Amino acid sequence: MKQIEILAFGLENLKLIDAPEPIKPKANQVLIRMRAASLNFRDHLVVTGKYNPKFPLPLVPCSDGAGEVVEIGEEVSEFKLGDRVLATFAPNWIAQEATHAELRNTIGGPLPGTLREFAIFPDTGLVKIPAHLSFEEASTLPCAALTAWSSFHTFSHLLPGHTVVIQGTGGVSIFALQFAKLAGAVTILTSSSAEKLEKAKGLGADHLINYKEVEAWGTEVRRITNKVGADHVVEVGGAGTLEQSIIACKPFGVIHLIGILAGRSGELNLLPVVMNNIKVQGIVVGGRKAFIQMNLAMEASKMKPVIDKIFPIEETREAIEYLRTGSHFGKIVIKI
Ligand SMILES: NC(=O)c1ccc[n+]([C@@H]2O[C@H](COP(=O)([O-])OP(=O)(O)OC[C@H]3O[C@@H](n4cnc5c(N)ncnc54)[C@H](OP(=O)(O)O)[C@@H]3O)[C@@H](O)[C@H]2O)c1
Repeated sequence: MKQIEILAFGLENLKLIDAPEPIKPKANQVLIRMRAASLNFRDHLVVTGKYNPKFPLPLVPCSDGAGEVVEIGEEVSEFKLGDRVLATFAPNWIAQEATHAELRNTIGGPLPGTLREFAIFPDTGLVKIPAHLSFEEASTLPCAALTAWSSFHTFSHLLPGHTVVIQGTGGVSIFALQFAKLAGAVTILTSSSAEKLEKAKGLGADHLINYKEVEAWGTEVRRITNKVGADHVVEVGGAGTLEQSIIACKPFGVIHLIGILAGRSGELNLLPVVMNNIKVQGIVVGGRKAFIQMNLAMEASKMKPVIDKIFPIEETREAIEYLRTGSHFGKIVIKI
């Protein structure tokens, strides 16, 4: 079967190989014919060794994947042959809280990922695909969509009328925009690109800020909200953007700390966080129960993920290089 492997860290060491097909699934395991995978920024970091240089190699990369059930082990009751399913990021994380081990035991590193034609997963590490989505569309959900969903609905409570600031137009951010609109929120979206801001407007973004042109975008959020500030800030920049996020956030508001695209450490004045009762909430993806809830919401609303580009598995390197450039809007998918 076709399988992508990281033989050594570095994009040049990513190889498409002919691997043996997995043996029969054991009890509580399911064999999946993978059909599509989608990329997250994490996958670029994993491939280049920047995420965790201690991950065991060779490693099949990619945490997001969709496919169909082709064989089930004994005692599997939730899935049957032909079911269309998604692998969950952390196969042992079921409910809201998880242990260190459950949080770190994730596919696409250190566990084998989704860029292969056949894969065996535990039945606890699978959920059904919303009926209205193709394999390609569904493959975008496990990390980016669930991270945005968990921010608003597991670790805080987004209400209609809340104001949400969303940084950028990558995978997590576009799902955050869609879920915020679905919940009836007012959205303020930042981007480095005028063209991407226009696209975001088409998805319902209410206010647009070019963060390259308006460096003090936190102050601009205060102006837009009549000095009130935002109830939620979706923070994908990290250390490089947190200062503006704190300015943008209203007293008792929440900063959802998701990414570190603009740096993981730096000097910061924390006093406004204390004086305004701001909650800085770290977010890592979400558990299986939240994933199922999110899929119900997507099915009911017929929400469709935004896909920028689909690559064949033979062009995985090109796809990861395209992700690195940041020129995409929404998600990048690989067809298997
Ligand atoms: N904690 C979690 O569970 C979790 C889950 C998924 C992702 N993440 C993290 O979240 C971040 C985003 O992931 P992703 O997969 O959505 O990445 P992505 O699709 O590669 O997003 C890239 C986009 O982020 C925007 N961006 C970059 N620097 C920015 C800055 N300084 N200010 C505002 N926006 C900026 C840019 O948007 P424009 O081009 O519009 O400027 C860029 O196109 C990464 O750090 C990733 O590791 C965390």
